[in-house]
Amino acid sequence: MDIEKHIAVVKDFPKKGIIFKDISPIFLNPNAFSQLIDELAASVRDLGATKIFAAEARGFLFGAPLSIKLGLPLVPVRKKGKLPRETVEVSYGLEYGTDTLCVHCQDVQPQDKILIFDDILATGGTAKAMCSLAEKLGAEVAGCAFIMELSFLKGRERLNGVEVRSMLIE
Ligand code: PRP
Repeated sequence: MDIEKHIAVVKDFPKKGIIFKDISPIFLNPNAFSQLIDELAASVRDLGATKIFAAEARGFLFGAPLSIKLGLPLVPVRKKGKLPRETVEVSYGLEYGTDTLCVHCQDVQPQDKILIFDDILATGGTAKAMCSLAEKLGAEVAGCAFIMELSFLKGRERLNGVEVRSMLIE
């Protein structure tokens, strides 16, 4: 499908000079959204994942229907302080400061092969941190999948050695 038809381009958001690619218009069109999930599922099936990691918050919107479509358990990856049970955490650098992502330890077993999913691959910090979470719990990373990749930010290089699948590369 032509995903670009469902992306709104917003100038100067969140700050001047940045051109923001807003993929939320897809949610206004359930048929297109459903087709996107079908195509996303088809593009990652061969990776042989046993579980999906999806990142807060926009990653959840696609990760949930993807897990149903693939018939795979979904593990929510959340910012620090949101998950109630025992967690493992990884901190990663942002433009200013750091952020911390967490998963419930009980949700992952060492024999798992994790599909790392997020809506957008930008600098790769979020995806790299999700890979580290899986590895900290002794699991394997089956691959990383994104709806859109902003290639000029070179996130793929940061995920060096991991299979990366993006539906749209900008
Ligand atoms: C966006 C996007 C990815 C991340 C990609 O999330 O949804 O999770 O940035 O950037 P990176 O490759 O440079 O790490 P954001 O932090 O804006 O949070 P949100 O999904 O909660 O809006």
